[in-house]
Amino acid sequence: MTEKVYIISGTNRQQAVSLQVSKVYQQEFEALGVDSEIIDLQQLPADYLFSGLYENAGKNELVNGFREKMKVGHKFVFVIAEYNGSFPGVLKAFIDGLEFPDSFMNKKCALVGLSAGIQGAVLAMSHFTDILNYCGAHVLAEKPKLASIGGHIQDGEITNERYMKHIKKQVKQLIEF
Ligand SMILES: Cc1cc2nc3c(=O)[nH]c(=O)nc-3n(C[C@H](O)[C@H](O)[C@H](O)COP(=O)(O)O)c2cc1C
Repeated sequence: MTEKVYIISGTNRQQAVSLQVSKVYQQEFEALGVDSEIIDLQQLPADYLFSGLYENAGKNELVNGFREKMKVGHKFVFVIAEYNGSFPGVLKAFIDGLEFPDSFMNKKCALVGLSAGIQGAVLAMSHFTDILNYCGAHVLAEKPKLASIGGHIQDGEITNERYMKHIKKQVKQLIEF
């Protein structure tokens, strides 16, 4: 059986489009018979920055649930929103609270970027790729750039055929990665 994929919705913004895109990925994995689970950063505790990091790492039970999933998982999709030309700060804080190096060493990751503007989080994905590589993870080359996302998603469905083509291709590639 193909191993479970964890999909990280990489922002804690309420009503984030990132979560909608994460659900699209989950449907695509399901259609191919692959189990997946969404890790939604909106579910982090409100005091995560102070209760989940550094000397407190591993002490917050709610955060430990996230840490455990990232430790046991071997394949991840990171849904990356473009915030100020890069990825959301909460995503970096999330990474900083994980066990190093076991959370990422020799694991396999796929990235998808989304933005309100025209860049499709291309720089954000590039920045995030550097971090994953530093932590020992391999990143799939196929990285869909979902620019102007607001105009291409409706009722949780991506309406842009080209975007869906890239997503389907990437999902298959991650399964085989
Ligand atoms: C703090 C913040 C910064 C943002 N910066 C950018 C940006 O630099 N470029 C851009 O195209 N969109 C930017 N956006 C818009 C997001 O890309 C847009 O909300 C998109 O839907 C993905 O983010 P979401 O998952 O939070 O919805 C920003 C949004 C927030 C909340």
